[in-house]
Amino acid sequence: MDLTLNGKVAMITGGSRGLGRQCALSLGREGCAVAICGRDGDQVEQTVSELKGLGIKASGSQADVTSPGDAEKFLQETTDTLGAPDILVNNVGGRRGSVLFDETSMEQFLEGLEVNLISAVRMTKLALPHMQAQGWGRVINISSIYGREHGGSVDYMTGKAGMIAFSKHLALQLAQTGVLVNCVAPGSIDFPGSTWDRFQQNNTPEVVAEFIDRNLPMGKFGWPEPIGETVAFLASDRAGLITGACLNVDGGQSKSLF
Ligand SMILES: NC(=O)c1ccc[n+]([C@@H]2O[C@H](COP(=O)([O-])OP(=O)(O)OC[C@H]3O[C@@H](n4cnc5c(N)ncnc54)[C@H](OP(=O)(O)O)[C@@H]3O)[C@@H](O)[C@H]2O)c1
Repeated sequence: MDLTLNGKVAMITGGSRGLGRQCALSLGREGCAVAICGRDGDQVEQTVSELKGLGIKASGSQADVTSPGDAEKFLQETTDTLGAPDILVNNVGGRRGSVLFDETSMEQFLEGLEVNLISAVRMTKLALPHMQAQGWGRVINISSIYGREHGGSVDYMTGKAGMIAFSKHLALQLAQTGVLVNCVAPGSIDFPGSTWDRFQQNNTPEVVAEFIDRNLPMGKFGWPEPIGETVAFLASDRAGLITGACLNVDGGQSKSLF
């Protein structure tokens, strides 16, 4: 299936490793020029080299998207190097607090909202004018199944649910403009260095087996490629009727009906 993405410019927050790196690979293989960022500049450079080695047009910025100045810098460097972004993937996220509200400080809660929600809103505000002006654009937000149902730390769940609400609101507002806004909700996705890699290394085989048995209907952790491929599909014209949606990519892990 030709996704007709050749020549589009895609900006992926994070992207130096993990699911963001996979989104860059999947979009790059479809002919997009891809821009990634991360706080660790060496890791960003390494991934940009890897992408270029595969024949993908790529650029990288050392930028912390929770900093308004760095977010602007990421957009400016992308525009200068590859052109203004047609596609924005808000991928950065992670927990800051605990599962227990009592054990989550106000600072952790606010940081959790900043990294999972506010930074994505800010980046969308920056990238949207070009998409609106040209009458074509895609905003794809990486949420989590824990934004759709109970799970994870209190700040993470609240931030990821907020991201789905924000996406729906924006999608309806932009529905007639050619700019589509959607979420992807991954389940537990494993790759070297991931949270779930650490979980498996730090727990006994019995604990890991029990977790898999209780939570993962396929009997195994997820892997990054289906996330990247879903993002590439949502970015394409093939997905032209999909906006305001949140797609689980979780091997059946989510228990919610909706
Ligand atoms: N893996 C899963 O099982 C899973 C499940 C559900 C949802 N998700 C969501 O999917 C997204 C990606 O997850 P992942 O597992 O790939 O995470 P990850 O392994 O922690 O990778 C995160 C990426 O974002 C960058 N990053 C982190 N904070 C940043 C910041 N403030 N500014 C700029 N870049 C930043 C990291 O580079 P630096 O550290 O160098 O900045 C890295 O490139 C997250 O939103 C996560 O919540 C993941």
